[in-house]
Amino acid sequence: MKRFAGSVVRRIPSVSTRWSSRCHQLRNSNVWLEHRRQLHQSRLLLSAEKVVKPVFIPFLSPPEDEDHDYENYRRATAKDIAPLSELPTRTKMLVRDFIDNSLYNPNYGYFSKQAVIFSPEKDFEFSQMRDHLHFMNLIAKKYKEIEGDVDEVDEVARQVWHTPTELFKPWYGYAIAKYLVTEYKLNLYPNKDLIIFEMGAGNGTLMLNILDYIQKYEPSVYKRTRYNIIEISQKLAERQYQRHDVRDAQHRHHCVEIINKSIFDWDVDVEDDCFFVGMEVIDNFAHDLIRYDTETMQPFQALVSVDDEGNYSEIYEPVGSDPLIARYLALRKSTMYRTPVLNHHLLQRIINMFPFSPNLSAPEFIPTKLLLLLETLNKRFPKHRLVLSDFSSLPNAIEGVDAPVVQTRYKGSMVPCSTYMVQPGWFDIFFPTNWELLRDMYLSICRGSRAGNDKAVKVLTHKDFCQRYGEIERTKTQSGENPMLMYYENVKMLLT
Ligand SMILES: C[S@@+](CC[C@H](N)C(=O)[O-])C[C@H]1O[C@@H](n2cnc3c(N)ncnc32)[C@H](O)[C@@H]1O
Repeated sequence: MKRFAGSVVRRIPSVSTRWSSRCHQLRNSNVWLEHRRQLHQSRLLLSAEKVVKPVFIPFLSPPEDEDHDYENYRRATAKDIAPLSELPTRTKMLVRDFIDNSLYNPNYGYFSKQAVIFSPEKDFEFSQMRDHLHFMNLIAKKYKEIEGDVDEVDEVARQVWHTPTELFKPWYGYAIAKYLVTEYKLNLYPNKDLIIFEMGAGNGTLMLNILDYIQKYEPSVYKRTRYNIIEISQKLAERQYQRHDVRDAQHRHHCVEIINKSIFDWDVDVEDDCFFVGMEVIDNFAHDLIRYDTETMQPFQALVSVDDEGNYSEIYEPVGSDPLIARYLALRKSTMYRTPVLNHHLLQRIINMFPFSPNLSAPEFIPTKLLLLLETLNKRFPKHRLVLSDFSSLPNAIEGVDAPVVQTRYKGSMVPCSTYMVQPGWFDIFFPTNWELLRDMYLSICRGSRAGNDKAVKVLTHKDFCQRYGEIERTKTQSGENPMLMYYENVKMLLT
């Protein structure tokens, strides 16, 4: 086994005794220096990345000396290290635990710090706008104001989310409400109540818009509506209460319950028919990283090891020891999905003939926490109907299939990275979703039917959904351009 700089792990020229440890190791990526030049404003943050490697030249770079010390490191999970104030050294953990810890560690995780969800005080008046550029300028202006405010509190405005719910309020929320009420009336009314669970409600805007719509247009359904929020962030859960409480009594909704909890800690059985809604939440669900042995095609799972000095490396071990990864891959196989990583089998055989050629395939990120969500839905919400939306693809992602974007905002600029192995807590790490694969896995877990059999389980684009359920006249500008239909082209929805 050898360690290499660069983004590939290379083949050992001859069978090595060290190979028998069945671990492959990959060091932190090398493109960082380039970003560093381009993004000079971000100097402060860039120094947060732990290992800067020299440029790797395929087939020419000789193998580096290996350090097998990591074999003695303590193996940890995100839960184990949650109480600590920093990432411990001489530790190794699965990639999903490293990412989970970076985003959600209660002391320094990205989401534990200041979270600002872009929410203009007044709803936009689209009929007063010239065209979509006019709309973009207005957003940019508001965005600047928010960042100005945040800078006073914390010099780094790291998180300013803008979501369809916020940009197109109340119209986007009304479209979701129309969908929910239509389905409810078709299938459950008048025998059952309308019960909604919203995971990750941000500012609580969707909840307010959905309930306002039902109250205004469907008063008889409103009387039977119950709305529950499952929110991991204490700050956001408090904000959701406040947003609701500042309304005058007449407009307050009394059917809302806010539960400050991660969906992954949910342990209550909900036997009722209900709708489970999650908008722009799953992109931050941690993924695992796998590569395949280029000769045997056996999958290997990545771990991040943190050495004595706090430098990060990837090490690889055969899939098998982690039940969640094993379950994910077995289930995925049953859907007949073929990973694009293994598409060029023949070419790979030729490459294998070169000395120092990679001994592992390109990286592939797999949504193991998303599988946990599906299992939770199946076990705890057996009669749910799902409304899920998020990115289907992302520009500027790091290398790999279904790879994430790793970035932060610094003084108004977006700072992208080439690796997820960055200083925990400083960077957003978010993933695209393969929605067609998710649909097939959902069918298998939650409906027990073979992929594609259940026509009621469908993937829609954001645009299709808005056209079907939205009052699209209300988001049209004077030129006829409609930002609600034009934007978020890379967002899809799963409706079940
Ligand atoms: C990008 S915001 C989206 C907010 C809102 N749904 C919207 O579309 O405007 C993500 C939300 O999900 C919450 N969240 C993230 N992970 C969660 C988890 N595991 N369980 C519950 N909520 C979570 C965050 O705290 C935040 O409220």
